[in-house]
Amino acid sequence: MKTDSLFRPFSLKSLNIPNRIVMAPMTRSFSPNGVPTDTVAAYYAKRAEGEVGLILSEGTVINRPSSSNEPNVPHFYGSDALAGWQNVINAVHAAGGAMGPQIWHMGVMNNHASGWTPPKLFEGPSGLNNPNLKNGVAMTDNDIADTIKAFGQAAADAKRLGFDTLELHGAHGYLIDQFFWDATNLRTDKWGGKTLTERSRFAIEVIKEVRKQVGDNFAVILRLSQWKGTAYDNKLAATPQELEAWLNPLADAGVDIFHCSQRRFWEPEFDESDLNFAGWAKKVTGKVTITVGSVGLTGEFLAAFAGESSQPSSLDELLRRMDRGDFDLVAVGRPLLSDPQWVKKIREQRTDELKGFTKDALAELVLD
Ligand SMILES: Cc1cc2nc3c(=O)[nH]c(=O)nc-3n(C[C@H](O)[C@H](O)[C@H](O)COP(=O)(O)O)c2cc1C
Repeated sequence: MKTDSLFRPFSLKSLNIPNRIVMAPMTRSFSPNGVPTDTVAAYYAKRAEGEVGLILSEGTVINRPSSSNEPNVPHFYGSDALAGWQNVINAVHAAGGAMGPQIWHMGVMNNHASGWTPPKLFEGPSGLNNPNLKNGVAMTDNDIADTIKAFGQAAADAKRLGFDTLELHGAHGYLIDQFFWDATNLRTDKWGGKTLTERSRFAIEVIKEVRKQVGDNFAVILRLSQWKGTAYDNKLAATPQELEAWLNPLADAGVDIFHCSQRRFWEPEFDESDLNFAGWAKKVTGKVTITVGSVGLTGEFLAAFAGESSQPSSLDELLRRMDRGDFDLVAVGRPLLSDPQWVKKIREQRTDELKGFTKDALAELVLD
């Protein structure tokens, strides 16, 4: 297996990394009351030591009363949580790594199994988290303005703490995506509309505010997905033309890198070619893209939550696409939960030492 193309350096604005491998953002819920601990810092530093090019943090929530549905998801606001993140980025830099926080607002959620609920009702474009399922309130214009500001504040803090980049979580059915999706955005004001471009206004305003806060030279990533947790086959953009009409205004607003979430990276996005989501996003925008989804594993990640294990699998198809220039960076999730050394093992061709994924890795922060 010739993996050289994964081990080329990459530079864009504030982001300078020695290889093309990105740790995918993965919620761990090990930050009591939203404050990342020393163990969280050690967990990320171990992945930096293991040669991950860019670490994206687990989703970390902005300063809104109902931005999270559980107390152990890290905050990206408040002096204690930000001190925790300072500790994380210092540890990652000391280990030679680069990192960006994944900035998140969950939007309207199901209540958490623990019974914990946030101090205010969940908020979203129409109070829905799934078609016809209401569990929160529709945001007022003031709520929307304050939320845009809170995204901007988180971005300013990310830069101030010394992170190398940041990612906005616009995927998987959470707040920004709830605005994109016509099944959860029923608004008839300027934040809604019949077309995806109209429903992108919230994302565009968030991106513009973030860009204003971080300046031109800080790399901004936006994560997107066509699929939703309750609708795997959903397509926000049904054709390449619709994809272009969706992504280019987001790029114009200030996105540098599109992180294109799929469950399986080899699945074609549209009928006319074998290009995947990241491949099409790069083709229609000319921007840098990240692919993700079952890289190096036999099974996909939602099945992992139901307890399914996965074995290591070949990287040949990934490398074929990368060598063809389909995408620039490759995100890897579950392999890095159980094995901080995964990248190093790939570089050194130690494939017989790869561990795969078992659900035990979800229950702890594996440090070695
Ligand atoms: C435990 C776990 C937590 C996750 N949390 C997040 C998250 O906070 N934000 C996000 O965008 N994706 C999240 N994901 C999705 C991953 O970023 C990634 O897209 C997915 O696991 C597919 O990559 P993989 O097949 O390499 O694991 C999570 C996945 C796992 C397994």
